[in-house]
Order: sequence, then structure tokens, then C-alpha cells
Amino acid sequence: MKTALIIGSSKGIGRSIKKRLNELKIQIIAPPRKELDTSNLDSVKKFIKGLKSIDYLILNTGGPPAKEFFSITEDDWNKYHVQLFLSFVLILQKVKLKNNGYIFLISSNIIKNPENNLVLSSSYRVAISSVLKTVSKIYSKRKITCINIAPGPIKTNRLKKLVKNVKEFEKKLPLQRAGSPDEIALFVQSIIKKEIKYLNGVIINFDGGLSNNLI
Ligand SMILES: NC(=O)c1ccc[n+]([C@@H]2O[C@H](COP(=O)([O-])OP(=O)(O)OC[C@H]3O[C@@H](n4cnc5c(N)ncnc54)[C@H](OP(=O)(O)O)[C@@H]3O)[C@@H](O)[C@H]2O)c1
Repeated sequence: MKTALIIGSSKGIGRSIKKRLNELKIQIIAPPRKELDTSNLDSVKKFIKGLKSIDYLILNTGGPPAKEFFSITEDDWNKYHVQLFLSFVLILQKVKLKNNGYIFLISSNIIKNPENNLVLSSSYRVAISSVLKTVSKIYSKRKITCINIAPGPIKTNRLKKLVKNVKEFEKKLPLQRAGSPDEIALFVQSIIKKEIKYLNGVIINFDGGLSNNLI
């Protein structure tokens, strides 16, 4: 039986991915935050110590609050450096992946279209995206595939926290709606189920056509 580690799967995108991978009869390891807190390196080290090798890794966690650049404190930078970057680096270095496996990173479309009040998020997500690209090169010999999913607005608690009036916000989007977390989950499920391997080392804008960047 194949095994997947899904981080941040109690709600939102992570929870939807967990549900869709369950349908593939994959053994799911889905630690709650009290067992694996990506903002706490000791928690991460403790969790991965006893972990056996896995087939699929979903790197997902909570996003930082929206904050204007000059109001971001040193503590904020340190916390999200660990939460969004260093924890994932440690996991990528230490967790053993089986040949033919998959790694999915849930990042954000702001890595290509940074927003002023989300610099805490965009800066560390660009950094971890760069690490994942490097990892994809190293792992390609073992047919381990790395895909960076960069969501645009997706209807979860996170969006409700960032946007005052979701309904009004949605009217301005290209599809007049935010994405559903299940659309991302179905994408992950299909890649795994259909064993798609040539989509590797890429960033997928999962944003309903919102972004303006060509590449
Ligand atoms: N939704 C969007 O519009 C959108 C757009 C772009 C990027 N993203 C990014 O995509 C990721 C998932 O988003 P989402 O909308 O699914 O968010 P969400 O609904 O807020 O869910 C976040 C998940 O991460 C967990 N989590 C939070 N902090 C954690 C920590 N320190 N360690 C481990 N787990 C932690 C939460 O668990 P608890 O139950 O413990 O809180 C929850 O399961 C986030 O990084 C978000 O910033 C989302």
C-alpha cells in the first residue's frame, strides 16, 4: 500500500486533498498541528524522526496574516521563516521518499504576483519554491515528481480571513467565483492516479485565470 504524508490537513485545501487521496486507498499520515507544527522546528524534528519512508508528500501549512511591510516585526519574520520555509526544507532533507513518488507544495499565486501586504507570504514561498525546483532536479533520477501548486483565491477559512466581503470579491474574479479546495484535490488525485510524470519541477497557477503573467 502507498503512503502519503499530508501536512495541514484539518481543513481547507489540505483536508480536501486528504479526502481525495483516501479514495485511492492510500494510507494517509495526517498529523494535527499539535503533532506537527511547521512553525516549531522541535515539533518537526520530533515528528519526522520516527517516520518510515513514504510515497507522497504534501507540503501544506497555514498562511501568514496580511501585514503592511513596515508593521512586520522581527518575530513575524522569524516565525514565518520557520513555518513556510525552514520546516519544509528539513522535511525535504530528512523524510525518505520512495522511487516513483510525488511531492506537492501548496504555495500561492503571489509568488508570481506579489502583493504589498502579503510580503511575509510571498518572500518565503519564493524561497521554498526555489528549493523545490532544486529538489526536483535531484529526485528526477529516482522518478520522484515535484509539483508546486500556486493557488489563487480558494474558498476556505483562509480566504474569509483575508477578504472582507467574499461575495463581492468573487464578482471581480475572471470566473466570478473563487476556486474550490476540491478542484486542487482532484488535480492532485489525478496526477497520482494517472501516474503523470512529465509534469515535473513546475509551478501550476491554480487561479482561475486571475494572474497576468505569461510564464
Ligand atoms: N485559500 C486561498 O485563497 C489561498 C490562496 C493562496 C495560497 N493559499 C495557501 O494555501 C495553504 C492552504 O490554504 P487553506 O486555504 O487551505 O488554509 P486554511 O483553510 O487556513 O487551512 C490551513 C491548514 O494548515 C494548518 N496549519 C496552520 N498552521 C499550521 C502550522 N503552524 N503547522 C501545521 N499546520 C498548520 C491548519 O490546521 P489547524 O486546524 O491547526 O489550524 C489547516 O489544516 C496556506 O498556506 C495558504 O496561505 C491559500
